[in-house]
Amino acid sequence: PARESATIVEMAPRDGLQNEPRLVATEDKIRLVDLLSDCGYGRIEVTSFVSPRWVPQMADAPAVMTGILRRAGTRYAALTPNMRGFEAALAARADEVAVFASASESFSEKNINCSIAESIERFRPVAEASRRHGVPLRGYVSCVVECPYEGAIAPAAVARVTRLLAELGCYEISLGDTIGSGTPESVDRMLTTVRREVDAKALAGHFHDTSGRALENIGVALEHGLRVFDASAGGLGGCPYAPGAAGNVDSLEVRAFLETRGFNTGLDLEKLDRAGAFARSLRSAA
Ligand code: HMG
Ligand code: MG
Repeated sequence: PARESATIVEMAPRDGLQNEPRLVATEDKIRLVDLLSDCGYGRIEVTSFVSPRWVPQMADAPAVMTGILRRAGTRYAALTPNMRGFEAALAARADEVAVFASASESFSEKNINCSIAESIERFRPVAEASRRHGVPLRGYVSCVVECPYEGAIAPAAVARVTRLLAELGCYEISLGDTIGSGTPESVDRMLTTVRREVDAKALAGHFHDTSGRALENIGVALEHGLRVFDASAGGLGGCPYAPGAAGNVDSLEVRAFLETRGFNTGLDLEKLDRAGAFARSLRSAA
């Protein structure tokens, strides 16, 4: 029988490099994206159009976005927290944009300097503009299990924000275990509640591997019908406003995990291995 396919959305250039203390050269970022394109990804998150005072690592977003080679069949995405970010992303020819909210009030304040309700209002014009320009809009919810500032987060809070993003017009909402503290039990409880509001087809899993449970949690998400997972070549990553957050789960490991469970990812193993090695070489010395 034909194998079912599952999608890995590549995060290393954005979620990976945003957390490197050392500034990575623009040309190395471009090289990383080009190596990743060659692996066969359908979607690569390239950069963020955010305030350079908040995240200096992403200050070269326009140069990276306009410097990469565009492989046919790959969508190059960027984070855009507000209209200013959206307009810059559009000018740099981003194929897809993403807004990012949180299920935790304190994380929302620390990460984007506003409450959850205010963030949804800021995203509204971004959603309208993305519709007008035919640019697909993705949404993120951070802290879907736990928040670094306020601890456990109620599944109902996650479901509420996920639904608000779906209502805004996000075609997919990526559920972020920002500090990687989710367990199979807590992820199962969260997904059970979220799926009452939003169909699994419109959800993605974004697991940081801080506690080494990301693959197990992806296994739980597969049982809930999710087929899209964010991962990072070389396991790069973290979030500058989430102290202690480790990298995204390694794309190579997610590929192997999905393939052994019978899912086709369409990613070339050797090329992904090579891209991961290059990604790791960009890491700041410990
Ligand atoms: P603010 O201070 O409330 O906004 O920040 P503001 O409108 O008052 O602007 C403040 C300054 O930023 C001004 O400059 C603006 O011009 C500038 P200043 O006068 O101070 O020199 N500015 C911008 N510059 C460039 N591009 C823009 C832009 N907007 C304003 N788009 C803001 C609000 C959202 C801008 C700020 O909080 C910010 O940039 N935050 C970014 C945080 C971030 O990128 N975090 C990491 C990504 S999220 C994540 O990693 C989680 C995820 O992986 C999922 C998971 O794991 O949970 C997605
Ligand atoms: Mg993340």
